[in-house]
Amino acid sequence: MVAPPGRRLVEVTGNVASGSYRIFTALDTDGPAPRAGQFYMLAAGKHWAARDERPYLARAFSAAGATPVADGVRLEFLVEGVGPGTERLADLDPGEGLWITGPLGRPFSLPRELSREAAGAILVGGGIGIAPLAIWRRQLAEAGVAARVLLGFRDRAHAGGLDLFDCSEVRLASEDGHRGHRGYVTDLLSVLLDGDDASTAAVYACGPPAMLEAVRAMCSTCRVAAELAMEAPMACGFGACMGCAIPLADGGYMRLCVEGPVVNADRIETALVRGSGH
Ligand SMILES: Cc1cc2nc3c(=O)[nH]c(=O)nc-3n(C[C@H](O)[C@H](O)[C@H](O)COP(=O)(O)OP(=O)(O)OC[C@H]3O[C@@H](n4cnc5c(N)ncnc54)[C@H](O)[C@@H]3O)c2cc1C
Ligand code: FES
Repeated sequence: MVAPPGRRLVEVTGNVASGSYRIFTALDTDGPAPRAGQFYMLAAGKHWAARDERPYLARAFSAAGATPVADGVRLEFLVEGVGPGTERLADLDPGEGLWITGPLGRPFSLPRELSREAAGAILVGGGIGIAPLAIWRRQLAEAGVAARVLLGFRDRAHAGGLDLFDCSEVRLASEDGHRGHRGYVTDLLSVLLDGDDASTAAVYACGPPAMLEAVRAMCSTCRVAAELAMEAPMACGFGACMGCAIPLADGGYMRLCVEGPVVNADRIETALVRGSGH
C-alpha cells in the first residue's frame, strides 16, 4: 500500500461527538484506502498553530474507518483532545480543509499469517487506542474471520468511540465501573486465554503502553500470537527523522512509522516505550 507522495488537502465532511471523544470524517479523492493499523499524518488546513503560534508538526492518527464512496474514500478518525494539535482536529468543521499524508505504516496481519492454528481474532483496545481496532473488526468481518472485541476505558471522561463498533459484539471494561466489567480490559482477555481460545486465536491490541505491555506478557506466557499497534512521538511519519525509533528484543531498533506501528509482540521485550502514552 503506497501512499501518494507529499501531503494533500482533503475536505472534512463531518464531526460528531462519541462519548468523550469525537469522530471526524474526510473525503480522500486521491489516496488508496488504508489497511487496518495504518495511519495518517494530519494537520488542519487553517489555524493549525493559532492557539500559541507554536509552529507544530502534523499529528499521527490511526485510520478508524474507510468507506469507498463514488468520488473516493470516506476516512474516519477518532480523536481525544490532549493538546493543541488534537484539540484543533477535534474542532474541525465540515467544509474545512485537512492536510493528510498517508496511508502510512505496516498494517495488521490476518490470524493465519501470524499462526497456522489461529482461526479467529481477539481485539483488545484501551482508551483512544480502540480506533484502529474499529476498522480492523470491519475488515476481518469482510474476510470472514470471527473476532471477539474487548474494549476498556479509564473512566467516563476518557471513554468513547463505541459508535464505530457494533456494540452487540463488544465486551466492555472500565476502571471506574461505569460500563461493563469493573477493572482492566486485560481481565477480560485473561478469561479468554484461560479457556480454549489460547491456541486458536491471534490477539490484536492497541492502547496505553501499560495495557499493551500486559497484553504482550500474557500472550507470551500463553504462547499466543499477537500484534500490537504502538505509539511513539512521530515528527515526520515516513522514516526520515528517527524520532519514533523503539528498541527490539534482538538489540536493534525499528522506526515505528515505517516498520510499525503494528509490531509482532515477539519482536519487543517491552511495550513500555519512552515518550509514548498520555
Ligand atoms: C501511529 C499513531 C496513531 C495515533 N492515532 C491516534 C488516534 O487515532 N487518535 C488520537 O486521538 N490520537 C492518536 N495518536 C496520538 C496523537 O498523535 C497524539 O496524541 C498527538 O500527536 C498529540 O498532539 P497534541 O498537539 O494534541 O498534544 P501534545 O502537546 O503534542 O502532547 C500532549 C500529550 O500527549 C503526549 N503525546 C504526544 N504525542 C504522542 C504520541 N505520538 N503518542 C503518545 N503520546 C503522545 C505528550 O507526551 C503529551 O503528554 C496516535 C499516535 C500515533 C503515533
Ligand atoms: S516519525 Fe520520523 S522516522 Fe518515524
